[in-house]
Amino acid sequence: MKFLSVLQLLLSVPLSLTSVSASPPSSPLSQTWDFIIIGSGASGIPLADRLSETGKSVLLLERGWASSGRWGGAWKPEWLRGTNLSRFDVPGLAQLVWWDEVVGNEGVWCADVEAKAACLLGGGTGVNAGQFYLPTWDDFDANQPPGFRSRDVASALGKASQRLPWTDTPSMDGKSYLTNGSYMWREALTNSSAPGHFRFITANDNLNDRNRTSSWTEFFFQNGEKGGPLATYLVTASQRKNFKLHMNTTVARVLRDGDVATGVEVESTGPGGLTGTINVTPGSGRVILSAGVFGTFKILLRSGIGPTEEIQRLASHSIEAAKLPPRKKWINLPVGHNLDDGPNHLLGVSVQGMDSYPWETLWSSTRDNPDIKKYLGSRSGPLAQLQASIGPVSWDTVLGQDGRKRVIQWDFSSGKNVQQAPGDGGYMIFTSNLNLGHTSRGRLTLTPNLTVSIAQPPYFTDASGHDFSALLTSATSLLALINATILQTQPGSFFLAPPPGVGLEQYLRAAKPASSNHWVGTARMGERCGEGVVVDASTRVCGMRNLHVVDASVVNGLPTANPQAVFVVVAERAAEVIRGLGGRY
Ligand SMILES: Cc1cc2nc3c(=O)[nH]c(=O)nc-3n(C[C@H](O)[C@H](O)[C@H](O)COP(=O)(O)OP(=O)(O)OC[C@H]3O[C@@H](n4cnc5c(N)ncnc54)[C@H](O)[C@@H]3O)c2cc1C
Ligand SMILES: *[C@@H]1O[C@H](CO)[C@@H](O)[C@H](O)[C@H]1NC(C)=O
Ligand SMILES: *[C@@H]1O[C@H](CO)[C@@H](O)[C@H](O)[C@H]1NC(C)=O
Ligand SMILES: *[C@@H]1O[C@H](CO)[C@@H](O)[C@H](O)[C@H]1NC(C)=O
Ligand SMILES: *[C@@H]1O[C@H](CO)[C@@H](O)[C@H](O)[C@H]1NC(C)=O
Ligand SMILES: *[C@@H]1O[C@H](CO)[C@@H](O)[C@H](O)[C@H]1NC(C)=O
Ligand SMILES: *[C@@H]1O[C@H](CO)[C@@H](O)[C@H](O)[C@H]1NC(C)=O
Ligand SMILES: *[C@@H]1O[C@H](CO)[C@@H](O)[C@H](O)[C@H]1NC(C)=O
Repeated sequence: MKFLSVLQLLLSVPLSLTSVSASPPSSPLSQTWDFIIIGSGASGIPLADRLSETGKSVLLLERGWASSGRWGGAWKPEWLRGTNLSRFDVPGLAQLVWWDEVVGNEGVWCADVEAKAACLLGGGTGVNAGQFYLPTWDDFDANQPPGFRSRDVASALGKASQRLPWTDTPSMDGKSYLTNGSYMWREALTNSSAPGHFRFITANDNLNDRNRTSSWTEFFFQNGEKGGPLATYLVTASQRKNFKLHMNTTVARVLRDGDVATGVEVESTGPGGLTGTINVTPGSGRVILSAGVFGTFKILLRSGIGPTEEIQRLASHSIEAAKLPPRKKWINLPVGHNLDDGPNHLLGVSVQGMDSYPWETLWSSTRDNPDIKKYLGSRSGPLAQLQASIGPVSWDTVLGQDGRKRVIQWDFSSGKNVQQAPGDGGYMIFTSNLNLGHTSRGRLTLTPNLTVSIAQPPYFTDASGHDFSALLTSATSLLALINATILQTQPGSFFLAPPPGVGLEQYLRAAKPASSNHWVGTARMGERCGEGVVVDASTRVCGMRNLHVVDASVVNGLPTANPQAVFVVVAERAAEVIRGLGGRY
């Protein structure tokens, strides 16, 4: 148990965060704000940066603590001591959030959300794998109303791609490491003598080519570090005097005077956090919810905005009842409906001799480790890459009998570790993500103890089963391709999943889909307010004059690929729209 005790020791050292420059000269509680933005995730940070460009006062409230070292984050293994990096800044450590042996990992996730949602600075971008795919036109044209269609977001897309560079070769020496699985996948997928092969492209240079194409995975990593909005947009925002970031501060609810948001009620959730009321500038200030699918849902309900039966349930909760607006001020909107996420299924083959990397042991490793030395010295080597490594990534577009196109993304990975493939073999795994075009939707609910719960997961709930058919079609052709390539060329290889004797359809029907952690859709955006709509194309909550939602909740269905770039583009577009609304409301 040496491993655990070293960790406990590290974690008991108090984190010193005095370098955080965000603390204001006077308390945010005692002034009024032109914009209060709630949540520092993929959307909240870019939005705060763009709105602060106007010179108006912007307060960004975040319930969590500092993740990246740049903002005071100090949680790190011993070998990162004395550097400006936290564990969250090192690409090779990203997947350790899934590794139970890292004591304290549970504190990364929002305790009041049943799904995996990150409650720290940066939100999902603070902890995620950094995969970054610019949106396709269909991502907007198939899901969003006029105002947020592809031609409307063209300039926003240009701005987002300028602020967030991407790479498929993150190591600063320009090399890729541990690649034999990735290259074997690439060779098999693009084998032109095999049935149904894929074309190899560079995903972010060929945005609309998503039918039987493969690409190396693309990441927003920069300079061998994590990168993303925390390393770009938040840096520029923080250079402005009219911008303040406040962490460890949870927004309980929006305070309303009928259809006007007057401010927010906040509760401190850690040292330095704020408790009390923070007001917006009367007559012109706006409150913007960027708290993610789960956070925004909860705040809206606690502000008396959502399905009447949900608010009714809250009203029977003694503490909440006293805080809710009077019943006649409730706004009945389908908040929490239209929940979307991509179901994952895991398939795989056993292949001998894959490169393997003991990424799980990096946490308790030391500076004698040559890879650690290389990383610290030159931001190069396996630690500058995501570990366990993934790639390539592929897309398949299937036309269903209902006339809809559905995009299935396949993530390919390879390796060998004790967790997944005991014994001597290696594995090559491929995971499906049923993305753009699928029609199944689910629903969120708030339980009596104020936990956000998934009342209905959005997986294969469509009555006629077209979502499942699309997955099966794509998986069938991919299996045939792998059977005609890897299984022929690699001695001793065999299918791990589906296992011998189990048919693909039987396997897929029996497997419980995993979440892709790509939740969207719960504050549905319409061109204007009406049936089924929560926000209009000005991002305003229906029935409110100065309350907005700008985050994954307003994206009506999953995009083609991992979604964070879409949320950044939505934030860039929302900034244009909100700036265009003018001062008074
Ligand atoms: C482990 C993991 C890996 C992922 N990998 C990828 C990937 O590689 N590529 C990709 O594209 N996507 C990935 N995603 C998904 C992506 O990170 C999210 O979809 C995205 O971050 C959502 O953006 P958002 O702005 O809607 O909300 P979030 O990024 O979730 O941000 C919401 C923020 O609001 C804060 N907040 C919530 N409630 C309150 C409150 N009441 N008061 C104050 N603050 C509050 C939260 O703490 C959080 O910081 C991953 C997600 C996870 C969880
Ligand atoms: C926030 O709270 C955590 C403990 O939950 C603490 O370690 C940290 O110093 C506080 N402040 C910031 C800015 O993270
Ligand atoms: C750490 O410092 C280096 C060198 O100054 C800088 O390039 C990098 O952006 C910093 N990273 C973080 C996370 O602060
Ligand atoms: C993968 O690379 C390792 C060395 O990094 C080598 O030992 C192994 O044989 C390679 N496997 C295959 C299947 O090429
Ligand atoms: C996708 O490409 C395949 C192979 O080229 C083709 O048969 C299929 O019709 C295409 N699907 C769509 C929806 O365009
Ligand atoms: C909240 O209630 C749900 C069931 O309604 C339960 O599963 C969960 O464990 C509870 N959480 C807490 C923190 O009490
Ligand atoms: C692979 O192809 C062989 C014939 O070469 C066939 O017998 C086998 O059923 C196929 N396996 C799968 C999983 O498709
Ligand atoms: C390419 O596919 C053909 C046909 O299935 C097969 O014979 C050949 O071995 C494959 N080559 C590789 C490198 O997979």
